[in-house]
Amino acid sequence: MLDVRLVDGRRADVDEYHELQRAASLVDYPHSPPPTREAVLARLRDPDVDLGEHLLWTARVAGRLAGCLSAQLPVDGNEHLAFARIVVHPSDRRQGIGSRLLRAGAVALRDRGRTVVEVSQIESNSPGARFVAAQGFRTVNTSVLQTLELSEVDPAIWDVEPPAGYRLERWIGRAPETLVESYARARHAIGDAPPGQSAFRVPSWTVERIRRVEASYRQHGVERRVVVAVSDPGEVVGVTELDLQPLRPELAAQRDTAVLAAHRGRGLGQAMKAAMLRWITADKAGLRRVWTSTAVANQYMADVNHRLGFATVRRYSVVNRELAGL
Ligand SMILES: CC(C)(COP(=O)(O)OP(=O)(O)OC[C@H]1O[C@@H](n2cnc3c(N)ncnc32)[C@H](O)[C@@H]1OP(=O)(O)O)[C@@H](O)C(=O)NCCC(=O)NCCS
Repeated sequence: MLDVRLVDGRRADVDEYHELQRAASLVDYPHSPPPTREAVLARLRDPDVDLGEHLLWTARVAGRLAGCLSAQLPVDGNEHLAFARIVVHPSDRRQGIGSRLLRAGAVALRDRGRTVVEVSQIESNSPGARFVAAQGFRTVNTSVLQTLELSEVDPAIWDVEPPAGYRLERWIGRAPETLVESYARARHAIGDAPPGQSAFRVPSWTVERIRRVEASYRQHGVERRVVVAVSDPGEVVGVTELDLQPLRPELAAQRDTAVLAAHRGRGLGQAMKAAMLRWITADKAGLRRVWTSTAVANQYMADVNHRLGFATVRRYSVVNRELAGL
């Protein structure tokens, strides 16, 4: 008997989810280590803070966890959209469980006013790719996942100075009052990254939104580090951001990097990212690797990452479809 229902992820029994994610990972990513219990716990407790409210559905067969659907509901101009990911245990696939989860989620997401569902990390020729094709999703962007193994690179490659006329500043968790306004303006520059046809719209960054998101990170216990490039008049013209989760001390997530158009082509992106790597390796002893993701069309950013020691792990697609009709 299949039972699909909406549950509270923060109260979930982590061991059950770990068993599900581990079994799926061993089949879907046989060349990568499966997620640890802490990694699964971190995803349940602290999903992507930027991406809004987190909803979780479980599918149980005779009481056993056979699959789940995890969705996030972004705000600030993205009230039309929901991000989703379904995982079904390898021994329970091709029995309609993924489809049932998707339908249950679609009804609830439509009730919350969402009109489009988007899924990322779909690899070509995978069960996920066949599933989303069967469900009428279309590919809207292609990205690369890159990781940096800190023990495998010579830290000297991060000795990159900012160009003349700029200095770097940095903070953890809260932008200083003197920089927060120009920091909000500079964050818009990420809107120039190739979005493909993703339904995600770069939010309008205001000081109020910056403060709200910063508070949300603190509340979830995520340490957000920011390095910015500041021009001579004291304006932020470039930003790079990185997240550290207490449950995953070995792994850092390199998030957005963006430089305002008028200041591009001078090596600011590389200088900021290099400074971030010097910073986290100087005071985070347990850190082993950093991951990041970049659109395939953004060759410039992928090249900067290679110069800093990142290697491309895999390519994947972003797909979406209307929720109507699901
Ligand atoms: C993708 C995934 C969730 C599908 O779960 P599932 O319970 O097997 O899916 P369903 O049984 O509902 O499949 C529905 C249809 O999708 C297609 N499909 C799903 N898996 C397929 C496969 N391996 N090969 C070919 N078609 C497949 C078929 O058309 C299938 O209908 P059919 O069995 O009647 O032919 C599961 O394979 C999984 O967990 N993959 C890893 C995680 C992932 O990639 N998630 C992304 C999707 S959101």
